[in-house]
Amino acid sequence: MHSFAHHRHRESAKETKGLILNGGWRYDLMVWFCDTFLFCGQVRQLRQRTATLARIQPGDAVLDVGCGTGTLAMEVARRVDRAGRVVGVDPGTEQIAHARSKAARRNLPIEFQIGVIEQLPFPDQTFDVVLSTLMMHHLPTSLKRQGLTEIARVLKPGGRLVIADFKHKKERTGQAARFHAGGSSMQDLAALIKEAGFSQVETEEMRPPRFSAFPGAGFVWAHKS
Ligand SMILES: C[S@@+](CC[C@H](N)C(=O)[O-])C[C@H]1O[C@@H](n2cnc3c(N)ncnc32)[C@H](O)[C@@H]1O
Repeated sequence: MHSFAHHRHRESAKETKGLILNGGWRYDLMVWFCDTFLFCGQVRQLRQRTATLARIQPGDAVLDVGCGTGTLAMEVARRVDRAGRVVGVDPGTEQIAHARSKAARRNLPIEFQIGVIEQLPFPDQTFDVVLSTLMMHHLPTSLKRQGLTEIARVLKPGGRLVIADFKHKKERTGQAARFHAGGSSMQDLAALIKEAGFSQVETEEMRPPRFSAFPGAGFVWAHKS
């Protein structure tokens, strides 16, 4: 599925043990194709639901970690309005370049930076909300732990975290069980989030519609104590 995946990309990309995707516009085309013809619009709905669960308010400072080509960040920018701040980080240089050009075309003041979850380039307590969609399954467990500690560091006290990800292969059924993608168990992810010091951890399942190849996804959301 990800022919443009690398563990490292040229000098300018950040080193990471995560799987960097670097497709830029090709990534968007692939997601559009899969979502339209195979997933019955579930990826689009997943991003909308992520923003809704975060209860984003005008004026919020929001970080999208593993932002890819910035589609969720653009949805969020409309919700925070001009008083807010939206930042996206991703190690993929072509993802970030394409995100910047999409935001510029839409005249949205989003800051896109090359960066990794394990070393977020922001001071402590910078953000009201941190989001991440379809990214955690690209990281080994040790990196997920490190990344969640970093997210807790950059969130303000009482700040909100929402993560959406594919379901773990073993949790899927039927056609979706055969579909590629590592996936994280939502229960394991929730446990890691608690371990990182978050409270009020909740989960929600997104079931694939009938006759869709969507592999199933889940949401975990929590507050920084
Ligand atoms: C499947 S894409 C999802 C992109 C976007 N969130 C979306 O919903 O379309 C996963 C993204 O995670 C990024 N990624 C991989 N390792 C990462 C890391 N260590 N820190 C942050 N992002 C990472 C990849 O480069 C890729 O753009």
